[in-house]
Amino acid sequence: MIKILFVCLGNICRSPTADGLMRQLVTEAGLADKIQIDSAGTSGMHTGKGPDARTQAIAKEKGCDLSQLQARQFVAEDFNKFDYILAMDNSNLDNILNLASSAEDKAKAQLFLNFSDSNLTQVPDPYYGGEEDFYQVFDLIHTTCKQLLSHLRNEHAL
Ligand code: 4NP
Repeated sequence: MIKILFVCLGNICRSPTADGLMRQLVTEAGLADKIQIDSAGTSGMHTGKGPDARTQAIAKEKGCDLSQLQARQFVAEDFNKFDYILAMDNSNLDNILNLASSAEDKAKAQLFLNFSDSNLTQVPDPYYGGEEDFYQVFDLIHTTCKQLLSHLRNEHAL
């Protein structure tokens, strides 16, 4: 089993979008028994809450139901549970790396957009933005999830 964890700050906008979209793509590809997905936030400020209403509305409009997801905080134990720990921005990555206790832990963490052919290196935080920002973030995450799946299929011969 390949285990992937998407991480942002609050676990209510960017990482749940990646979580829901990647689950959908993996299921559609018939790989749900080979690739496991989860998401977390480096902050615990929204723990237990569902995704942001704006994030959920756009995902629903695009055919992806995020209503079952619940925010949780990233913990050091996640290094033992996941193979790929994918941060949405540099600040998230720094916070993750601060909890690493070995080179092996550190090697699991990287930027999500490392798997994208976008010119961007970080997924912008849409929380204080407008509707257009949420649409752009959704599309960027969707495209990158497809590219990540393609990478995983090649890398792990799936
Ligand atoms: P996320 O967005 O990290 O993509 O879930 C945010 C959610 C909440 C806050 C900031 C960013 N906040 O400041 O509460």
